[in-house]
Amino acid sequence: MIDLGSVWMTVAVITGAVMIAKEAMKRAHKWWQEKKLDKKIRQKLPPGDMGWPVIGNMWTFLRSFKSSDPDSFIGSFVNRFGRTGIYKAFMFGSPTILATTPEVCKIVLMDDEKFIPGWPKATCELIGKKSFIGITNEEHKRLRRLTSTPINGHEALTTYLKFIEDTVVFTLDKWSSMGEIQFLTELRRFTFRIIMHIFLSSESDPIMEALERVYTDLNYGMRAMAINLPGFAYHRALKARKTLVAVLQSILNERRSLNGGKLPKESKDMMDALLEVKDEHGRQLDDEEIIDVLIMYLNAGHESSGHITMWATVFLQEHPECFRLAKLEQEEIRRNKPPTEKGLTLKDVRQMKYLSMVIDETLRLVNISFVAFRQATTDVEINNYVIPKGWKVQVWYRNVHMDQEVYSDPKEFNPSRWNGVTPKVGTFLPFGGGSRLCPGNDLAKLEISVFLHYFLLDYKMERLNPKSPVRYLPHPRPKDNCMARITKLLVSDT
Ligand code: HEM
Repeated sequence: MIDLGSVWMTVAVITGAVMIAKEAMKRAHKWWQEKKLDKKIRQKLPPGDMGWPVIGNMWTFLRSFKSSDPDSFIGSFVNRFGRTGIYKAFMFGSPTILATTPEVCKIVLMDDEKFIPGWPKATCELIGKKSFIGITNEEHKRLRRLTSTPINGHEALTTYLKFIEDTVVFTLDKWSSMGEIQFLTELRRFTFRIIMHIFLSSESDPIMEALERVYTDLNYGMRAMAINLPGFAYHRALKARKTLVAVLQSILNERRSLNGGKLPKESKDMMDALLEVKDEHGRQLDDEEIIDVLIMYLNAGHESSGHITMWATVFLQEHPECFRLAKLEQEEIRRNKPPTEKGLTLKDVRQMKYLSMVIDETLRLVNISFVAFRQATTDVEINNYVIPKGWKVQVWYRNVHMDQEVYSDPKEFNPSRWNGVTPKVGTFLPFGGGSRLCPGNDLAKLEISVFLHYFLLDYKMERLNPKSPVRYLPHPRPKDNCMARITKLLVSDT
């Protein structure tokens, strides 16, 4: 006969022992990470939990982001420690401070002296050590000045508007004859075509398509665990980077050999500008620097815009009243155009007030860049807590946008919440803030607006799996990449 009493006793003892061992491991990990700190600093660390040895809180993070509730990750800190807006954790192999409220995010983003970029080593390997995330503040300022003027501002946007518009009209027409498409995949190709035009204008379609496919692998590895073994996303991403470097190097060699980078003005693109630029000592950029800046821009310049365009279309589809208002506005813009005027102007785009609110609400709700990475250069005191020198800081844009104390009904798609509202500093951060504010913000909004203008007026979308679950890594997307049919409206439909 089995003695149930002793079985229970054994189970209870084993469970207790496992729990004690787990707690001991966590405490040892916390002690190990904090022991290098001065006692005074240690006592002023924010509340939090350093998780397990080696993996820290990564398991909990990945579990939340692979579930249907990514906000449960930061939620678990808020539930346990209160809404302090600042917590300690152990992420991507480093002791880390999580900044989660507008006030704390704002302080971190605005102070370039005390906070420098602190992206995980694995991300730097993929994007490039000489891209914006790996260089000094001085170099960043110079390269940023050089590269952001040609993509932002009135003059630049006027130049690109015609190309964007032609691409939208051509692309929508093509999709309507393709039957079932992965709407997201096609949109990423569309935004890639635009960023390629700006940076590498003269490259051929096959090069463009090959590069775009390689970027998909690069992106999947970006937020994955840095396991460089066959079969893992990070391994594939490293291989993708190698391919990108090789392709861009061969384009660079060709440009250099053609005319030493000295092209007639009208045929210059960003690669030519990078080839020619000199610093105050006459030094030019070397190939590695040019390639890393290009890899970063080509990636940042298409992934986010493609995803946001898809989500804005999907949200409009799911909210008929918003769809109706957005379409009414575009009809009025088309109606009011003088018959002699062909195509959209920037003035037309500025009149798209409701559409602009739709895009802002999509940016808030989707949180394409859910977090940014910084590192403290010195001990920094915020809200009576100390961020120790050398620790990483994660700026949780997503949490700011999904915080009930900042936005009522944060999970609700409600473009009208922006009506007449100028968001308080730090509360709306889809493009980040401070000196690292996204240089492509206006270009992105222009692309999305022009796309939606033509889509709303002339096309409709029918999703094949409207209930497809959402994946949150590396960016939020429907699992089926939004399989859909795009149809041109008949005159009777409009
Ligand atoms: C909807 C579209 C976009 C979103 C949501 C977005 C979001 C962001 C965010 C949040 C950052 C700041 C990251 C940080 O704080 O470290 C950023 C940086 C950046 N973005 Fe964008 N972006 C978009 C489109 C674009 C486009 C079209 C381009 C290129 C033309 C671009 C190029 C960049 C670059 C180069 C940086 C790094 C800036 C620096 O470190 O100085 N982005 N973006």
